Amino acid sequence: MKIISVVGARPNFMKIDPFIKAINSFNKSLPLALSPPPPISHILIHTGQHYDERMSKAFFKALNLPEADINMGIGSGTHAEQVGNTMIAFEKILKAEKPDWVVVVGDVNATLACSVTAKKENIKCCHIEAGLRSGDMTMPEEINRLVTDRLSDLLLTPDRISSENLLREGIPESKIRFVGNIMIDTLEANRDIAIKLNISHILSRNLIKESATGDRQQATGNNIIESAIHNLATGELGKANPTSDIRHPKSFPEFCLVTLHRPSNVDRKEVLEPIVRFFLDEVTKELSMIWPVHPRTKKQLEEFGLFEDMLKHPGIIMLEPLGYHEMLRLNMDARVLLTDSGGLQEECTVLGTPCLTLRLNTERPITLREHGGASILVGNNIERIRSAYNIVHNLSRTPVRPELWDGHTAERCLGAILEYENY
Ligand code: UD1
Repeated sequence: MKIISVVGARPNFMKIDPFIKAINSFNKSLPLALSPPPPISHILIHTGQHYDERMSKAFFKALNLPEADINMGIGSGTHAEQVGNTMIAFEKILKAEKPDWVVVVGDVNATLACSVTAKKENIKCCHIEAGLRSGDMTMPEEINRLVTDRLSDLLLTPDRISSENLLREGIPESKIRFVGNIMIDTLEANRDIAIKLNISHILSRNLIKESATGDRQQATGNNIIESAIHNLATGELGKANPTSDIRHPKSFPEFCLVTLHRPSNVDRKEVLEPIVRFFLDEVTKELSMIWPVHPRTKKQLEEFGLFEDMLKHPGIIMLEPLGYHEMLRLNMDARVLLTDSGGLQEECTVLGTPCLTLRLNTERPITLREHGGASILVGNNIERIRSAYNIVHNLSRTPVRPELWDGHTAERCLGAILEYENY
């Protein structure tokens, strides 16, 4: 059997990694079987939607992912350009390779482009992380999810709510398998590596270089990097973090971690500016903030004339996009996480990090407090963000583990394909 799996953007890499490892383990186990089937041949395709070292290559290195067999180099562009160019390039690959299955993950443009192309070539398609629905048709990801799920032959869901969504849409039950959350496989496999990282080192290694500006240098009169982490590392703003005390003799002060990249939050000045002001004028009075900035967001902050203020502010540390283990390490210790990322919402659930989701809806209701998770939906209205923030930032860490988020989802994903094929 020949499988092509597809990645395109940052959140795909940690979803495909355990799946590839499951294929490798299956192939290794074959000689032990009585009459072994032939090994699975696997090809990894990277569409190249994310191309920066920090948005892509760093994840391959950190997770020990084999380099993609083919990188289509699609890069940036409008949605139509990204999807169209991916389809044109992927069709050629499918015609040459003739795989039995195309496996797509998540909801990025690569997921949509490659599932459509596969089905037009009459190739079976398996969607890992099927059935998520925000109900928000202004989200490009929702369109990607709807089309991919409608076309896929095998829909592997992370939770029972997602399976029910698919049934409600009329997808036959025989195509749906509840397998759990594959991203949590990666989290579980990498926890021990992440916990050993030193937070000060993460900050100094990833500090945005432009922060060589006045205020921070004056803060210590020391070198640039030292001065930038001064406020956090000396605990001027943060209180000592009790969870850090257990693991590190020298405790690290508490901090609030931020990530934002959704167009709905970052593409309009009238939305982004009040959020930034809330961070700078209110949150930093009590807690230091750490913000690894997505390229889209950095571009927008610069365009709206907000970036300089943030770089100069002593209470917020602006970082380049972080590697997988570095982000996990910060999430393990953050007092609170403010985010619009779906993946981080899920990781907060398992790590127990109190989380505010800056969106009006979520395709991942299982991560919300009303379903036992760690997150509260707050949208981008400052009143709502403020009142929820005042509640969550004093909550203690309560890790929970939704059903089948057990670190073994990838095996079940491969198992579902093998079962389909009677392999
Ligand atoms: C994409 C996904 C989103 C996912 C996010 C994670 C879609 C529709 N969206 O959004 O679901 O949560 O990735 O990061 O697929 N850029 C760089 N370097 C890069 C990649 C992008 O500078 O390596 C710039 C691009 O030039 C572009 C902007 O960042 O202007 C946005 O990139 P894009 O791939 O269009 O979408 P994301 O916002 O990253």
